[in-house]
Amino acid sequence: MAAHHTLSMATQVALNTKYTLPILGYGLLQVAPEKAAGFVAKALEVGYRHIDSATMYQNEAASGEAIRNSGLPRDTVFYTSKSPPDQHGYDATVKGFEESLNKSGLEYIDLYLLHTPFGGKEGRIGGWKALLEAQRAGKVRSIGVSNWGVHHLQELQDWIDETDTKEGEGRGGKISVGQWEIHPWLARKDITDWAAKHGVVVEAYSPLVRGLKMDDPLLKPLADKHGKSPAQILLRWSLQKGFVPLPKSEKEDRMRENADIFNFELSAEDMKSLETGKYESTIWDPTTDTT
Ligand SMILES: NC(=O)c1ccc[n+]([C@@H]2O[C@H](COP(=O)([O-])OP(=O)(O)OC[C@H]3O[C@@H](n4cnc5c(N)ncnc54)[C@H](OP(=O)(O)O)[C@@H]3O)[C@@H](O)[C@H]2O)c1
Repeated sequence: MAAHHTLSMATQVALNTKYTLPILGYGLLQVAPEKAAGFVAKALEVGYRHIDSATMYQNEAASGEAIRNSGLPRDTVFYTSKSPPDQHGYDATVKGFEESLNKSGLEYIDLYLLHTPFGGKEGRIGGWKALLEAQRAGKVRSIGVSNWGVHHLQELQDWIDETDTKEGEGRGGKISVGQWEIHPWLARKDITDWAAKHGVVVEAYSPLVRGLKMDDPLLKPLADKHGKSPAQILLRWSLQKGFVPLPKSEKEDRMRENADIFNFELSAEDMKSLETGKYESTIWDPTTDTT
């Protein structure tokens, strides 16, 4: 990745496919379907080129509509969706993927993630096989996982390695991206170390801690020092850790604020002050699943 001071909203991270991922995303969890097209259109106007939706969010159709109507060349906008989190295995994932693609109205999806590791080994590997087929058919460009713990990741990597050995290099596919709740109160070093070692790009969801820590005493001194908001400090932390943060906001001024993070840099000392050692998940934590 480029040196921190040279990052910009246009910066792209190389994936282990031949594609690249814009370094800042716009997240759509809990954005009402009837409002989502307007917000995505606004985010694209502000300059976001990376849209993070999911079957669960019920705004894939609205996201696709806004991308299609934006006037932007399709290959300049990166669109992610995710499998239904409660459906696993090959058949359910084939169906879930086709529904996601159809709802978006796009010719292809840039990134499709298995939303959770639930469903046991058969569910996980079956889901992966479904994504591999969609990728080979050109319907999705890069594939990955979300909310998987190291034990789930390693299980899939072992299956990939075995498949490559038996059937030929590349037949097992590549985990290109992983998405997890990551912020200073949940840094997930075990998972991010595993990802770095295996060439998996890490997306940080709930990078603003869902708005719950804006008054935290850890953030105020850094916000004052840099003349930035607590949200901007959190997003900058994420970028400097090498993650791709996915902030969500329904407000244009916050969309702009959350993108105005490329003109300052946290020092090593600042970064250290944000090492809390805490494990506070704020939404759900499927990484601990033992099925
Ligand atoms: N894979 C998964 O399981 C998973 C789980 C959770 C999230 N995600 C993805 O990650 C995205 C972001 O996560 P998230 O939505 O959970 O939370 P988040 O981005 O950490 O926080 C969003 C909250 O912060 C507020 N906010 C936004 N910008 C702000 C600012 N500059 N100052 C103060 N408050 C601000 C928002 O309110 P307003 O909208 O009113 O501005 C909203 O309440 C999701 O939208 C989704 O795409 C994925």
